[in-house]
Amino acid sequence: MTQITFIGHAAIEIESGGVSILIDPFISQNPAAVQQPEDFKPQAILLSHGHFDHLGDAVQLAKTHRCPIIAIFELANYCQAQGAPAVEGLNIGGPRRFDFGQLTLTPAFHSSSSPEGQYLGQPCGLLLQTNEGQRIYHAGDTSLFSDMALIGRGGLDLALLPIGSTYTMDPAAALEAVKLLQPKRVIPIHYNTFPAIEQDATAFKRAVESATESQVIVLQPGEHYDW
Ligand code: NI
Ligand code: MN
Repeated sequence: MTQITFIGHAAIEIESGGVSILIDPFISQNPAAVQQPEDFKPQAILLSHGHFDHLGDAVQLAKTHRCPIIAIFELANYCQAQGAPAVEGLNIGGPRRFDFGQLTLTPAFHSSSSPEGQYLGQPCGLLLQTNEGQRIYHAGDTSLFSDMALIGRGGLDLALLPIGSTYTMDPAAALEAVKLLQPKRVIPIHYNTFPAIEQDATAFKRAVESATESQVIVLQPGEHYDW
């Protein structure tokens, strides 16, 4: 069984094969979150890019649980300098095997810097294949791009797609992304956290499900979905 918890914004917990993986754990300062960092015991933390609303509590959680932070090279190094006990710096390209599965960093069209303005490498999407064979794509913060069609090849059990607009795709662009990715399931993320990214996820679900074969699962912060 694979269980996805929508923590709020782009923060996701994936539990698969008895392992907890956190993506973009923006929790304690996340106005949408109903959970606290203490509610999680991750074995690995994955980051799409370095903006505060994605880095979040990553370093503190990594210290508490002695778990690695996995991210693009420059961001991994930044986390190490901030005190993370173990980091794995990757780059966009092919998969890397970990205890919890295989991770590939994919392109994302966005920016990535620290609060101090330090360059933190390319922003990324995350393509995870769990040890149970589930393929999950977290798009990170990105615009629509046609190479999403390549990411979808091989099949996706789940795509986590931003719909908030202003900083990322809006619902119309995310619908086009679903057409390119052709995932079995879609969970919309990165919306309704702040006024600038307010969206109607139910309208997005209707639009996607009437135009594609994909199922859209709308989760409130703190809710989970499993299959
Ligand atoms: Ni960002
Ligand atoms: Mn963001």
